[in-house]
Amino acid sequence: MNNNHTAVEVIKAKRDGQELSDEQIAWIVDAYTKGAVDPEQMSALAMAIFLRGMNRREIAQWTQAMIDSGIRLDFSALGKPTVDKHSTGGVGDMITLTLAPLVASFGVAVPQLSGRGLGHTGGTLDKLESIPGFNCSLSDRQILAQLQAVGVVVCAAGDNLAPADKKLYALRDVTATVESIPLIASSIMSKKIAEGTGALILDVKVGSGAFMKSRAQARELAQTMVDLGKDAGVNTVALLTNMDTPLGYAAGNAIEVQQALDVLNGGGPSDIVELTISLAAEMLQAAGRPASEPEIRAALSNGQALIKWREMVAAQGGDPDAPLPVAKHRRDVLAPKSGVLTRLDALAVGVAAWRLGAGRERQGDPVQAGTGVLMHAKPGDAVTAGQPLFTLLTDTPDRFAAAQATLENAYDIGNESNHNPQNLICERIS
Ligand code: URA
Repeated sequence: MNNNHTAVEVIKAKRDGQELSDEQIAWIVDAYTKGAVDPEQMSALAMAIFLRGMNRREIAQWTQAMIDSGIRLDFSALGKPTVDKHSTGGVGDMITLTLAPLVASFGVAVPQLSGRGLGHTGGTLDKLESIPGFNCSLSDRQILAQLQAVGVVVCAAGDNLAPADKKLYALRDVTATVESIPLIASSIMSKKIAEGTGALILDVKVGSGAFMKSRAQARELAQTMVDLGKDAGVNTVALLTNMDTPLGYAAGNAIEVQQALDVLNGGGPSDIVELTISLAAEMLQAAGRPASEPEIRAALSNGQALIKWREMVAAQGGDPDAPLPVAKHRRDVLAPKSGVLTRLDALAVGVAAWRLGAGRERQGDPVQAGTGVLMHAKPGDAVTAGQPLFTLLTDTPDRFAAAQATLENAYDIGNESNHNPQNLICERIS
C-alpha cells in the first residue's frame, strides 16, 4: 500500500471538502475491491461523498476505477451495432421486456444486462424468472453466442463485470448512501460501459416512485450519466420520464410479464406502448439504424417483436407457451365513492406490491412470482363507488392488511377539473 494514500487520508480529504486526485481514487477503489480497505472505511468515504459530492473529473475517474476492477466485454465480433437501455427504476416498469425484443427485431443487437428488484422498485430479472425455466445466469460466452444467434439477451451481469460496484452498492444499501448523484451515476455507467454496448439510452425516472423526486435532480443525474457515456465513447442519450404514477396496470412479476405479452401481441396499456416506441426510436437512432414511428408501431402489432421475444425466451431455457404462475390468494380494494381518479401514487403501489411479496427486503431474499397489485383505473379514468380499484395478489394472505393500509392514501377521487394530466416523457438530454 502507498503510505501517502492511506484510506484515512482519502476519507479526511473528502470529509473536508477537497477534491480527490485521480491516483487517490484509483487506489482506494482497487484496494477496497481487493479487501485492503475495510468496509467501515469505505462506508465513511461513501458518506463523505454523499455529503460533499464529486466534480466531473472525480466522477469520471471513480467510474473508470470501477470499470478497471473487472473485465470489459467486447461485442466487436458481432458485426452489427449494439444498443442497450437502462432505467433508473420505477413501479410497473417492465419496458425492457417489450423494448429489447422490439429493437432486436430491427437487426440491432441488444445486450441487456439487468438487475433484481430491491425495495419498492421491481427488477427485470425477477420478472423474467417468473417464466417457467427462464435462466438469467449466462456466461460471457453464452451472452455473445445468443447475441449472434438471436440478437437479444436479457440476463444478470456476471461477477467479473465492475465487481467494485457490486461490493460498494451492497455497502451503500445499508449505510444510507444510495441517493447520491455521483455514486448512482458512476455505479450505473461503470456497468454499462464495461458491458461493451456501443450505444445507450437512459430512462431516468422522475417522481414519487423514482430515486429522483424532482426534475432538477433527475436532470443532473441524466446529464452526469450522458457525459460519462460520451467520454467513454458510448453514444448516450437520456429521456426523463414521469414516475409519479405507475406504468401500466400491474406491479409485480408474472403479472408484468403478462402485460408485456399483451403489448407484444399488439395490445396492452397505452403508456407502456408509447414509452416502448419512444425508447425504441431513440435506441435505433443511436445505433445508426433509424426507423420511423409507424414502422416501430407496426413491429408491435404485426408479431415481428413477439417472434424475437419467443426466440429469446426459448434460447434462455424458458417455455414461451407455459402458463405464468398465479398467486394463491386475491383480494379486491373497492372505490369508496364515484368520480374521476385524479392521483395514483407510484411509490405507494410499489410498496404495496413489495409488501405482498413481489419484492425483497434484503439482497438474496426470494420473491413470489405471481404476487403484486393489479390496477383497474389510472388518473383521468371515471370510477364508480364499489368497483374494484385494485386487486391484491399474494401467496401469503397475512400480507393483505399491510398492503391495503399502504394503498389507503395512494389515490384521490375528485372530478374532471381536479385532474391534471402529466406528460409521460418530460425531457430529452443528449
Ligand atoms: N442502480 C444502480 O445500478 N446503482 C445505483 O447506485 C442506483 C441504482
